[in-house]
Amino acid sequence: MLQKIQETTKFIKSNTKYNPEIGIILGTGLGGLVNEIENAEIIEYKDIPNFPVSTVKGHHGRLIFGMLGGREVLAMQGRFHYYEGYEMQLLAFPIRVMKNLGIDRLLVSNAAGGMNPKFKVGDIMFINDHINLMPGNPLIGPNDDEIGPRFPDMGEPYEHSTLALAKEIAAELNIPVHEGVYAAVSGPTFETPAEYRYMRTIGADAVGMSTVPEVIVARHAGMHVFALSVITDLGGMEEVAPVSHEEVIEAANKSEPLMTAIIKELLKRL
Ligand code: HPA
Repeated sequence: MLQKIQETTKFIKSNTKYNPEIGIILGTGLGGLVNEIENAEIIEYKDIPNFPVSTVKGHHGRLIFGMLGGREVLAMQGRFHYYEGYEMQLLAFPIRVMKNLGIDRLLVSNAAGGMNPKFKVGDIMFINDHINLMPGNPLIGPNDDEIGPRFPDMGEPYEHSTLALAKEIAAELNIPVHEGVYAAVSGPTFETPAEYRYMRTIGADAVGMSTVPEVIVARHAGMHVFALSVITDLGGMEEVAPVSHEEVIEAANKSEPLMTAIIKELLKRL
């Protein structure tokens, strides 16, 4: 694994002039932020040795290097989901490469279903903790002590100080935000009514099909994490509420500018 990470890192380093400190992964319908990256350099996943390639038709699969909020960033346009059939370990790979490139901070967004009765479609929730309900963990398997410890602490998966700063920024920008717990499921099915009730009961405010594997791997490697969800449906609360992929994308697109404004300002002040 370490050898593959090093090989991929070497390739990437020889293909960009940037030395980013901050990595960004954007969720479904939330990719607009990448258009704001200045002086961008792009590397396609398919050209990167050892890199997974997105299976979802029409999804971009590329790394974008450049300047955002005055900082050097690396954004992944197109993320990998467990439901696409990837091994959990493969989901971990891009994060490990980021770390090897010198990135010690990860910003993540996702589209999620809201279960907290205070939430409305289009709301933003800063993630303050998570529950991993996926049938696995990306750290299962032999541990490489050079990357991180066998039994990593998960006491503060989402850095408190960054969360506090993001709340300050949202207040200054007059963007109302919630804070809550994100439950990660495998998908690709959306939840049954009983599953939504179950997740609400165990303490989750939102549910989605991503983010947690990446965050686990990032924390394992000692990276600082900030993550937010855009609430794209209220599966848990509406009597008759079929959830569709189209609805998720439409809601995410609408809230995207607000999320972008928060992340840009956060980058300036981190
Ligand atoms: N459930 C799971 N994943 C999701 C949802 C949901 O309701 N909405 C967006 N991603």
